[in-house]
Amino acid sequence: MIAKSSRPEMYKYSHTTEVFGLEEENKILKECVTQLQEELDRIKQAPLLVCTVKSLIKGRYLVRLPNGNQFLVSKLAGCPEVNPGDAVVADQRNLVIVEKIPIIQENDVEKFLKPIHTINREPIGGLEEQRRELHEVIELPILKPELFKNIGIVPPKGVLLYGPPGTGKTLLARDIASRTKATFFHVVGSELVQKFIGEGAKLVKELFTLAKQKSPAIIFIDEIDAIASTRLDAGTGGEREVQRTFLQLLSEIDGFDPLSTVKVIGCTNRKDVLDPALLRPGRMDRLIEVPIPTIIGRREIIDLHTEGMNTNEVKHEILAGLTDGFTGADIKAACTEAGYMALRENKESITQEHFIEAIGKIKKSREENSIPGEMFG
Ligand SMILES: Nc1ncnc2c1ncn2[C@@H]1O[C@H](COP(=O)(O)OP(=O)(O)OP(=O)(O)O)[C@@H](O)[C@H]1O
Ligand SMILES: [Mg+2]
Repeated sequence: MIAKSSRPEMYKYSHTTEVFGLEEENKILKECVTQLQEELDRIKQAPLLVCTVKSLIKGRYLVRLPNGNQFLVSKLAGCPEVNPGDAVVADQRNLVIVEKIPIIQENDVEKFLKPIHTINREPIGGLEEQRRELHEVIELPILKPELFKNIGIVPPKGVLLYGPPGTGKTLLARDIASRTKATFFHVVGSELVQKFIGEGAKLVKELFTLAKQKSPAIIFIDEIDAIASTRLDAGTGGEREVQRTFLQLLSEIDGFDPLSTVKVIGCTNRKDVLDPALLRPGRMDRLIEVPIPTIIGRREIIDLHTEGMNTNEVKHEILAGLTDGFTGADIKAACTEAGYMALRENKESITQEHFIEAIGKIKKSREENSIPGEMFG
């Protein structure tokens, strides 16, 4: 028998108050289960606090929060066993341990901050305008800073490359780094918030210090939207942590001289969610769009990706016409696929038909996984 309280999740077994029939009781219990399930899902999804397990005391866990406070808490049913020394994430309201997380290893941080000295340069098809702009705002200030001093203009500290996935943004950043021979730091925004939980702001600071020491340097922040998104509500712990990382990034960008030889290149395919603070004058105020290639661009990309292939009477201009809407990455995938088709047929060279079939296959898989274009705004 069940007593009904004001909040549905508070339905409790009781022999007092209102009494329901079995059917009614069953219905209420089902509701209860659904609500608890939703609550469980919500707890699992909400940003969680990172804590360290200090010890086990009578089936409960003594955890230490980042601010040094310690609490005796319980563990969510279904969460695997945790032991002293483990890093865990806990619900912010009741500190129930939800999940165990990997501990950040010293060499993970080292790897994260490690500059890349040799960059394998890949040829780029199309994107002349973008390359020209990068040459002016990144390459020239690094290679010939005196030009800017003499003429009295201040180059941007950073640029933002934006556009759909697979259009060559990373390619462009690596290309410019190899041309300037600058020390290249490649960090990924989502890693800062997912892998280095609690360490993001500190790592950003270290990154900029290192880049200044090793200048000329380019700091390339891929998926910058992961730390610089306006959709964040700073009210909760996990989001506050991302916010801290973002604020540190802004303060580092503000802190260096635009005439120094440290440059920042950010990359995103979600420009629409970026916090305008990042794009303010004096920060990453130069925006470069990297769009889906036109037919001319596609033709150039096809030329490049078929260069080393053994092809037989393949008309590149026809393939360019057939690949409307393809990104560079799609074209590369279609060329590789055409090669596989020839291999499967034991042919020594790849024919026009192989390419056409491969293009059809990539087109189909693109349609199946299609993402609305406006997301990349
Ligand atoms: N313009 C291009 N010329 C030649 N190859 C290209 C071009 N664009 C993309 N590609 C091919 O696609 C691959 C993926 O491109 P890249 O990683 O630069 O895309 P991206 O824009 O950074 O994508 P994401 O937003 O997913 O990070 C490249 O390694 C390259 O082989
Ligand atoms: Mg990329």
